[in-house]
Amino acid sequence: MNNRKKILIDCDPGHDDMMAIMLASASKEVELAGVTTVAGNQTGDKTFRNACQVLTLIKDNAPVARGSDKPLVRELLTAPQFHGQTGLDGADLPPVGIKPLDVHAADFIIMTLEQSREKMVLVPTGPLTNIALALIKAPRIKEKVERIVLMGGGMHDSNVTPAAEYNIYVDPEAAKVVFESGVPITMVGLDVTNRAIMTPEDIEALTVPGGKVSDVVVPLLRFFARANKDIFGLPGAPLHDALAVAAVIEPGIVETKHLHVAVETAGELTRGMTLVDFYGVTKQKPNVDVALELDARRFVSMMTAAIEKLNRKLG
Ligand code: BDR
Ligand code: CA
Repeated sequence: MNNRKKILIDCDPGHDDMMAIMLASASKEVELAGVTTVAGNQTGDKTFRNACQVLTLIKDNAPVARGSDKPLVRELLTAPQFHGQTGLDGADLPPVGIKPLDVHAADFIIMTLEQSREKMVLVPTGPLTNIALALIKAPRIKEKVERIVLMGGGMHDSNVTPAAEYNIYVDPEAAKVVFESGVPITMVGLDVTNRAIMTPEDIEALTVPGGKVSDVVVPLLRFFARANKDIFGLPGAPLHDALAVAAVIEPGIVETKHLHVAVETAGELTRGMTLVDFYGVTKQKPNVDVALELDARRFVSMMTAAIEKLNRKLG
């Protein structure tokens, strides 16, 4: 019997989104039941192509569906300063060799959940547009979602404004729909993901002669590490999105606290802020498991093992 947890990754690749897909693909604890894409780090056509190229590279035949090209009500803000003009600058990926589905990501998510006998885990690693659309269009799917383990937000840390993390900032209205949905949520935010770092040494250690995956991943991560060093002074590549997948595979990798989290959509200076009520001052019922601590070395060894496994798979 197959005991693997079924997950859907909704992403905007992006270097760390790519690592999230790779970690899931290599894991025997989860089954990657689909990949959906959203505009975010780059435009919708680029994030979609990147996801298809990543799956082509690692020879994973999970179904792929393209989703929203812009946030629910706002204009898109991309992040070329971290991910380059292609969204995956730093190395060439193979041309797309898979056939994506001809269905919108939100409909694919609805269909997949409805057809699944067991509950599934959604892992959004980009702006929450597709997930919000699916929940708005078919609220009945909530009962098929075991949990949403998302990369986004933060209690203290931010990266777009002093108040907000990128994924929530880009589509705060969508984030509000998701956070208020009543579905169990784990928020893997910047407080932990900024410490989920592969140092330049960790990155170089992935290299093996003839490694078909590491040959591509290592230069990509060098690019991402350099951008994060130049912009934030971080000591390596923070694999934000991959930590969300790691938290599904091994929930103990992060320590969480069950707290109320609200999303700011209207604030003049605080658009996209995730307000974490750590002291319970609002008396609102907790709705999110907020990740506050992580086992960073364990995370790096999971990532390293995943890339080694994919190298071996491709021979
Ligand atoms: C998030 O923003 C994106 O640039 C990354 O892919 C990640 O999902 C980090 O704030
Ligand atoms: Ca992302």
